[in-house]
Amino acid sequence: MTNNRYAHIVMQRCDTLAGFSEEPDRLTRRFATAALRDANTAVVGWMRAAGMAVRQDALGNLIGRYEAEQPGAKTLLLGSHLDSVIDAGKYDGPLGVLVALACVQRLYDQGRRLPIAIELFGFADEEGVRYHTTYLGSQAVAGTLAPATLELADADGITVAQAIRAFGGDPSRLADARRSGDDLLGYCEVHIEQGPVLEARDLPVGVVSAIAGQSRVAVDLIGMAGHAGTVPMDLRQDALCAAAELVLAAEALARDTPGLVATVGQLDAQPGASNVIPGRATLSLDVRHQDDARRQQALAQLRQRAAQIAAARRIALDWRIAQESRALACDPALTERLAQAVGALGYPLLSLPSGAGHDGVAISALTPIAMLFVRCKGGISHNPAESVDQADVGVAIDVLGRFLLGLRTRD
Ligand code: GLV
Ligand code: MN
Ligand code: MN
Repeated sequence: MTNNRYAHIVMQRCDTLAGFSEEPDRLTRRFATAALRDANTAVVGWMRAAGMAVRQDALGNLIGRYEAEQPGAKTLLLGSHLDSVIDAGKYDGPLGVLVALACVQRLYDQGRRLPIAIELFGFADEEGVRYHTTYLGSQAVAGTLAPATLELADADGITVAQAIRAFGGDPSRLADARRSGDDLLGYCEVHIEQGPVLEARDLPVGVVSAIAGQSRVAVDLIGMAGHAGTVPMDLRQDALCAAAELVLAAEALARDTPGLVATVGQLDAQPGASNVIPGRATLSLDVRHQDDARRQQALAQLRQRAAQIAAARRIALDWRIAQESRALACDPALTERLAQAVGALGYPLLSLPSGAGHDGVAISALTPIAMLFVRCKGGISHNPAESVDQADVGVAIDVLGRFLLGLRTRD
């Protein structure tokens, strides 16, 4: 089969996985849901058809192993995530799993084993949509998932521990999900770029230099609900107005700070009626920078600003850090090998940083990581309009395949 054929299969499989959703009219596949179980079941079948031994770990990550030529060989980890954001595109996560799977399938079709073993991960949570904290899946594999995380509750009051159990996992055995590091060569992830740089440079793929650090904050503003017709404007404690000021303050700071991005992606006003002054507003704040010190500084500034806004409106502020993840430089040696694979196939090399978070951040606690980005149309992502070209997917399969062929068990 040509790589076009494998790329075509990857595109078809991305379409198939997009059909596994919690919602009928859009793609939403959060951690430990029935939709994720269906996606895992489909990927299990494809992994088995590629000659892999498959298992699901105690958290719900899917793992396919393709043995080496000889026992005792070292292992390279590949993978990406199978969960999605709300109203997602088809490629953020699944593309990386399926490109890696296509490489294994091609080896299997050729009757070929490598000097190294391959373990392919479909991580169960990277987006952090359900529990507002990312990398549940890859943190469990890295052995860094804090036990307190199991007690977090989703919007329906279901804890992480309960969700894992309902998904067929075992929260009391999460330590078993840790992948011990002795035989590991590293981790390599293919992912859509989710930005416009490769398209602007007319390149199908690029090599990732570093991944931005991110903070997620849960902000609660508690004022006083009241009658929209009777309470004079100067006597109100309107929590939503305070939230609105904070949203714009975050935007203004990020606009004025090179490299900083800040986003309020969720905002809820309670009790939520057109004739009631909002007594409570809850919002999510996501702050990112390639430089951890600058991110921390921005966070401190925003916290101070939030306190000022709240005080001026006689509103109580609750500021809870839901997630902190540090900026991460990809491993120079592994990245150089990936760059060589790009060059060997005749493509100009572009090295670029990632503003998005990726499972590799968590896996880096276990083993060195490298990443390959694939061009996406218009740089659009976290949006159903996410789109990649089959030809670019074919290039990614060839680059990753070449990279795999270059690895030796002594590396
Ligand atoms: C994951 O896509 C993130 O960067 O939020
Ligand atoms: Mn992703
Ligand atoms: Mn994403």
